[in-house]
Amino acid sequence: MVLKVKLIVAVSENMGIGSKGQLPWRLKKELKYFSRITQLTSDPTKRNAVVMGRRTWESIPAANRPLVNRCNLVLSSQSLVLPEGVTLHHSLEEALQSLGDDIETAWIIGGSSLYQAALEKGLCDQLYVTRILRSYDCDVFLPEMGPGYVLARDPAVPEELQVEDGISYKFEVYEKIKN
Ligand SMILES: NC(=O)c1ccc[n+]([C@@H]2O[C@H](COP(=O)([O-])OP(=O)(O)OC[C@H]3O[C@@H](n4cnc5c(N)ncnc54)[C@H](OP(=O)(O)O)[C@@H]3O)[C@@H](O)[C@H]2O)c1
Repeated sequence: MVLKVKLIVAVSENMGIGSKGQLPWRLKKELKYFSRITQLTSDPTKRNAVVMGRRTWESIPAANRPLVNRCNLVLSSQSLVLPEGVTLHHSLEEALQSLGDDIETAWIIGGSSLYQAALEKGLCDQLYVTRILRSYDCDVFLPEMGPGYVLARDPAVPEELQVEDGISYKFEVYEKIKN
């Protein structure tokens, strides 16, 4: 089966995704959702990959990285020292090409340059977008998604409004329009 490529992001009303090297919000259940969705496979013999930029890798607390049960790939132009099993890549294409048949889905997990590259090149079959229904002071933003995607459904994704610590958010799934 061919590798699926999907993008996952949580974004504020003002399209922010990060601030000072961290997430602008603290939403435990949203992080649990990210963890569950990025580990989910339809084939139990396979696992997924998470592809991220160097700053996103550094934003994950040392105790929580590499992200468990997923193959971790990091993009950087530098020769980073990474834990065993985490691989370093110099472009998104090269990272994706390095993945073998044992991987079901490559999840693009940010940050903004990876999202930009993936969206511009139309690499993603689906986009999993958490809409945080608030504005935040941010210094990193989600690039334009473009017109090539429509709202879709995934039975694994709750459709009801989520509320955590007084912050409302909803999970959305977009699918690439087939030409
Ligand atoms: N809300 C969300 O869902 C979400 C998701 C992810 C991250 N974030 C937040 O976003 C921020 C981090 O994102 P960011 O956009 O600042 O940085 P980033 O994309 O995670 O990392 C940027 C770095 O990745 C490397 N890189 C990117 N594209 C490359 C390429 N084509 N070839 C080689 N290296 C490449 C470069 O590393 P070198 O400089 O080492 O060459 C670049 O400086 C943090 O605040 C984080 O918390 C939020």
